Amino acid sequence: MTTPQHPEDFLSSMRLRSAQEDGIFWVDDQRLGVFEPEAARHVSATNWHRFVMQDRLVDLVRRRRSPEMRWSRIRSTWLTRLHALATAEQHGLLIERMERVLDASTGHDTDLTMLMQDVVLRSLLPVALGGLTAAEADLVRRDLEMKLSRLVSPTPGGVLHHLRHVAVQIRAGLVVRRVLRERARGRRGREPDLADPFVDLLPELGMDRALDVVTTVLTAIGGPPGTAAASLLYEFVRHPEWQDRLEAELSTVDPVEFRTAPTRAAPVTHRFVKETLRMWSPPLLLVRRSSFAFDLGKTRLEPGQWYLLSPHLIHRDERVWERPDVFDPDRFLPGAGHGPADRACYVPFGWAPKKCVGANLAVVQLMALCHLMCTRYRLTVERPEAVTMALRFAPVPEDFRGRLTLR
Ligand code: HEM
Repeated sequence: MTTPQHPEDFLSSMRLRSAQEDGIFWVDDQRLGVFEPEAARHVSATNWHRFVMQDRLVDLVRRRRSPEMRWSRIRSTWLTRLHALATAEQHGLLIERMERVLDASTGHDTDLTMLMQDVVLRSLLPVALGGLTAAEADLVRRDLEMKLSRLVSPTPGGVLHHLRHVAVQIRAGLVVRRVLRERARGRRGREPDLADPFVDLLPELGMDRALDVVTTVLTAIGGPPGTAAASLLYEFVRHPEWQDRLEAELSTVDPVEFRTAPTRAAPVTHRFVKETLRMWSPPLLLVRRSSFAFDLGKTRLEPGQWYLLSPHLIHRDERVWERPDVFDPDRFLPGAGHGPADRACYVPFGWAPKKCVGANLAVVQLMALCHLMCTRYRLTVERPEAVTMALRFAPVPEDFRGRLTLR
């Protein structure tokens, strides 16, 4: 497999080839790029339909079948729990946790990309896995931070760093197992988090599959939401005219209303968030293995072969978006001529049936961040025009330093 050295060059060459080859082409000898919106929708829909989790480790060793566990069941368990968590009280708690981290950074010159990662991870961790001791939470966060730093750093750490991370990863995995086991045995309180429903499913799932489920959520909150928050702040500081529009709208809105009807509660802010997610969708590439054969234009994808998807490349495709490199939230105004041609062209949260289960929460959180920036804090960045966006596993603003003060 040949991968060009620099992710930015790789992405721009993908974009060029995608334009020349109608969005479907072999990126190298092993991976098919499926960057055409309708083909990406079709492949995802077929590939993950009826997806079943692997058998439990213990059953694999004993060469027997585990109770079947469909991924759709895991997803509907998450979605039911997220629905139950979408209360005014839980939303208020999420904002309080965000404020706590932001307040602690006020008055200092701060790396805003790192700060956003911290704000998002600390505020979302109790949603994914709550009731941890301070030491347990530190370990889980350290694992996620190390994972992320490997993905976003321009110079990934060496072997020693990797070994250190493996050790932290193992210890964080042990924390998750302990939490699930102790909740199941009544030695630890049950929590209203995304892990808790799987305590009751442990007999069917087994501990290793339950760990996979919880780790999927932890990984999901450890990467994209933080980089999306940093991208939001990046666009915020670069567009004073949008700051004014957001401030005018948000000064009279209660952020608790975002959770039920974001467009009605704050239409300008909702458009701002949507456009940020169009321009800077994390992750830039999703690597998937095909379980079926697909005839895609002039080429065929066989079962077992790898393919790549990219919300980012679809969002920057000139065939489906007008002036795709221009930040313009008003393209999401109803009836705007330069808006999304259809739903397959706007996919910041991926594709059904694997689409992000946290999409609503993510949008509400980004809108709440806008609210905080417009009502509670003042953000100063010396030369916002000099901040650049690096394309790593996700878009990340580089050398993005600034100072928050309380209003
Ligand atoms: C701006 C923030 C976020 C972005 C851009 C984002 C984006 C994505 C994307 C692109 C996928 C892959 C979809 C696919 O394979 O087609 C995904 C999966 C997922 N996301 Fe998010 N996400 C965000 C926030 C969240 C949050 C806050 C949560 C949880 C509370 C979450 C939980 C998940 C989970 C569990 C999956 C895996 C779904 C599955 O495997 O079936 N995400 N996300």
